[in-house]
Amino acid sequence: MPLEKVILAESDENLRRTVAEFIRNKRIDVAEAGTIQDVYNYLGKDEFDLVFIDAKLPECKLLDFFGDLNQRSEKPLVIPLVNGEPDTFVLECFKAGAFDYLAKPFSREQIEIALHKAGNFNHIAKANAAMADGAVDDADREILGESSLIEETRTLIKRVAQTQVTVLIQGESGTGKELVARALHSQSPRAQKPFIKINCAALPETLIESEFFGHEKGAFTGAVTKRQGRFELAHEGSILLDEISEISLAMQAKLLRVLQEQEFERVGGSKTVKVNVRVIATTNRNLEESVEKGEFRQDLYFRLNVVPIYVPPLRERTGDVLFLAEKFRKLFVRKHGVEAIEFSEDSCNCLKHHDFPGNVRELQNVVERAVILCNPDGVIAPEQLNLTSKSPSPSVKPGGKPIDSTKAECFLKLEDAEKEHIIRALAEAGQHRAKAAKLLGVNIRTLRNKIAVYKKDAKTDEDLAKFGLDPE
Ligand SMILES: Nc1ncnc2c1ncn2[C@@H]1O[C@H](COP(=O)(O)OP(=O)(O)OP(=O)(O)O)[C@@H](O)[C@H]1O
Ligand SMILES: [Mg+2]
Repeated sequence: MPLEKVILAESDENLRRTVAEFIRNKRIDVAEAGTIQDVYNYLGKDEFDLVFIDAKLPECKLLDFFGDLNQRSEKPLVIPLVNGEPDTFVLECFKAGAFDYLAKPFSREQIEIALHKAGNFNHIAKANAAMADGAVDDADREILGESSLIEETRTLIKRVAQTQVTVLIQGESGTGKELVARALHSQSPRAQKPFIKINCAALPETLIESEFFGHEKGAFTGAVTKRQGRFELAHEGSILLDEISEISLAMQAKLLRVLQEQEFERVGGSKTVKVNVRVIATTNRNLEESVEKGEFRQDLYFRLNVVPIYVPPLRERTGDVLFLAEKFRKLFVRKHGVEAIEFSEDSCNCLKHHDFPGNVRELQNVVERAVILCNPDGVIAPEQLNLTSKSPSPSVKPGGKPIDSTKAECFLKLEDAEKEHIIRALAEAGQHRAKAAKLLGVNIRTLRNKIAVYKKDAKTDEDLAKFGLDPE
């Protein structure tokens, strides 16, 4: 990704002009500085990606300058321009945080290489920060299963991964759509580049555009610094637009342009940003129906749906249930360090006959709980799977006794009651959010927003599991 803004601090005016012109021709903004004060003034007003700084700039102690930069949260890269300084000085600069150095006289080619290196570094650093931010997690799990349906899905992924086409992954909640999206990326020629995920359902309308496309400093209240959006961070890699059905018609129009032109503007900016990104989208709604209802643009649907991948629900591949249960048992035995040696015959029957509305996620949660609660002899009994009882479990106080609702002291706070009620609906629906929303008589978006808040408050993996969420 090319750099955008550079400071060129050089006391030799002729040299400064020539180098600045060369950099501007690369479509990079250059702020020219003749003194260290100019540099600080620029840094106070805007954000820069890189500073070229003359080691002999008047009244400038380069090492102090590095010290000042380290106080800032958004630091530009620094490349000192040295001229006859001893090697030990260059070494000190590197220790203080210099990205590189250029020894005068330098050629145009050397500047070009420095710009290119700094551009790449910046991009990777920002994409890594976004990934560490929770935009993606590193669990690059295998798509398990031995049914012919899952085998066909794996074959399709292998073929499609090699191409650049946009892929729309459809399937019920918990079937493994995200897993498929990650496999598409990791088996593609882009595997070494970023994989960036954006959850369209979790973002309020006011933030979604800036999450997608980034914003300029001061674009809106709270935009105190310039920020790259997810599309920019995914440059040369893949972007996963999770739960795409949830974006508004206005955002759909903007997305269509990116898919067609691979370009956009940041919020509050006028400069056109070009990217090379492979788009993968997922949905657990029937998008064709959304198109018919006028909730989703038909042209965007066609653009996204170049290659559709349908991930079948677990009940259509019952042959996978015991296979997956066994894999998950081994996984959770390792994770929790407990002895859960096998499923009893009755447990296997229960698993085979349950229809798993929450699909693989539900199966995974059921097995994890059973492994933890397993009998001392290491055999998992049907009670530990807890699959037969569809009725909600009675509310239990922290002490473990059922709540006596006739006593005023046992009254739950309204918000706790709501949370409890949502947990019950989710359990009833086998963690299938759309079904749970229906039971609760609310829109799925409302339910998702509430779950997003609970996710933030969750303290343990068990808390997360109640809402069908995976451990972080
Ligand atoms: N075939 C599979 N093999 C192994 N693990 C799987 C498989 N399918 C799903 N999983 C696991 O099940 C959980 C849910 O999968 P994933 O998040 O990909 O589902 P999803 O379809 O994106 O669900 P949602 O619609 O709720 O976002 C994950 O922990 C994933 O690793
Ligand atoms: Mg998903």
